[in-house]
Amino acid sequence: MSFMTNSQSLLPTTYQLPTHVAIIMDGNGRWAKERGLKRTAGHEEGVKTVRSITTYCAKIGIKYLTLYAFSTENWNRPKLEVEFLMKLLEKYLINELNTYLQNNIRFKVIGNICKFSTKLQSIIKDIEDKTSHCKGLTQILALNYGSQDEITRAVNRALVNEEEITIDTINKYLDTYFAPNVDLVIRTSGEIRISNFLLWQSAYSEYFFTKTLWPDFTEFELDDILSDFTKRERRFGGI
Ligand code: FPP
Repeated sequence: MSFMTNSQSLLPTTYQLPTHVAIIMDGNGRWAKERGLKRTAGHEEGVKTVRSITTYCAKIGIKYLTLYAFSTENWNRPKLEVEFLMKLLEKYLINELNTYLQNNIRFKVIGNICKFSTKLQSIIKDIEDKTSHCKGLTQILALNYGSQDEITRAVNRALVNEEEITIDTINKYLDTYFAPNVDLVIRTSGEIRISNFLLWQSAYSEYFFTKTLWPDFTEFELDDILSDFTKRERRFGGI
């Protein structure tokens, strides 16, 4: 946990911020449908929100922001939509390098990206390398990510190395080994479920569900949620 007094924030006073915020970005398709547009237009608009929320988190001093961008189950979507999302991701990453560097943002990916094209894998590696020195926010994109898959891969790695399965060993082999546990999980679009997202890392997270569709999600709403977070009493199993 850290304290902030940051004039750049929309928050009025000194605030206790969560260290690690994770967001299930949902509702792009419905946003587009409401406007008579193709689902892909919703994803394009969703990218703008990814950019604004990421730079805002960097400005107010949040240290880790994990965004659920493509799940292990998203391959079941129509082929054209999957292809569109892959291209959009490529375009986003290539365009984003300057924004990352200007805002001191380190970029990291979690998930099993072996299934992605070699081109996309090398773009991801390149941006991770070029931003590895950044010390502000770490933006973590969850790509071909599923918590059950991640935990299974972690346990298998530990077994291959003949290590005893303990909480520490699993933490060490999870894709998120470099990040602290999640303090706050937000899901947009009114769905109240976790959808295989950071199940291990959110053992003691606070949850916040909003009806706002992801393309409509703003810094102002995030501030409201952060303000709500500070009022929750976190006991981590104690009394
Ligand atoms: C859910 O909307 C959204 C996703 C499939 C993942 C989020 C993707 C983006 C924000 C765009 C790509 C991101 C990057 C970083 C390039 P949905 O399609 O499930 O919406 P619906 O539930 O209304 O159909």
